Amino acid sequence: MNTPTFLVTTPLPAPGMELLAEAGRVLSPAEPMSREELHRECASGRVDVLVSQLVDPVDATLLAAATLRGVSNYAAGYNNIDVAAATARSIMVANTPDILTRATADLTLLLVLGTARRVVESDQFLRSGAFTGWQPDLLLGHDVSGRTLGLAGFGRIGRAVAQRALAFEMKVRFCPRPPEGRPVDPEEYSGLSGDIAPASWEEVVSTSDYLSLHVPLTEQTRHLVNADVLERMKDSAILINTARGPVVDEAALVHALGTGQIAGAGLDVYEHEPALAPGLAELPNTVLLPHLGSATETVRADMARVCARNAVAMARGELPAHPVNP
Ligand code: DGY
Repeated sequence: MNTPTFLVTTPLPAPGMELLAEAGRVLSPAEPMSREELHRECASGRVDVLVSQLVDPVDATLLAAATLRGVSNYAAGYNNIDVAAATARSIMVANTPDILTRATADLTLLLVLGTARRVVESDQFLRSGAFTGWQPDLLLGHDVSGRTLGLAGFGRIGRAVAQRALAFEMKVRFCPRPPEGRPVDPEEYSGLSGDIAPASWEEVVSTSDYLSLHVPLTEQTRHLVNADVLERMKDSAILINTARGPVVDEAALVHALGTGQIAGAGLDVYEHEPALAPGLAELPNTVLLPHLGSATETVRADMARVCARNAVAMARGELPAHPVNP
């Protein structure tokens, strides 16, 4: 077999780059590629596998012209890739699931606790010099134990979030595949001890003290949380999003937060990332992170290894360990 060529749009952590370099030629542009450059390279006939990031749009136009064997996405989510268009052209697509589950679930709990206990406001208060001593009513927050955590989605990450929330003595209600839901096999949550049960999307929306999103971005989940849903949430509720920004109508969220329709939000992802909806950054009842769900050194290095192995397998015409379109 000829030496394969990998086009890496943004360099991966070292373990991934090393695996790719051992297996073939690596094209890794020093500057971010424009959309046109990416299209041109993928259609050039000299790239076997594209190693993409979640910010790279691998759309139907690119795939129609591409001469690729595969696309290896350095992410668990793959909404940046038109998988149907890839499948139609027999281009394999792979992702990096599993390894980031715990880190993303940890970050979700961080946002639950951080919004509940007003951690950003409190930090800013202290740094501004406003702290003059302990007071009975200083920066009071909300409890988490005994409160209901509603989960939209119950895949790997949703389940790991449930496990952590139960350890904080929260009550967990989950709706897999919202808004319709799907039948739940008790086996799916039998290993989790505590107050946990499946629920309809309507129940999750209207009874949650914390509503956390763990769904992929699809046409069904785009704006799953819209003005109507925000209106049906408790006015004391807090919305958490570590999934994908466009699952929430961000303008409607800013309105709901500003008018007290809901109490707060902890966000790691944004509808028009990296831009924030006007007004969001000025709201004190938010904790806002720059898409860090999987951002630990170990996880990112493991993702790089998995991503590179997927790329090498596809370059060799083999099925990768994590195929999206088997
Ligand atoms: C993913 O992998 O989908 C995350 O959003 C980025 O780590």
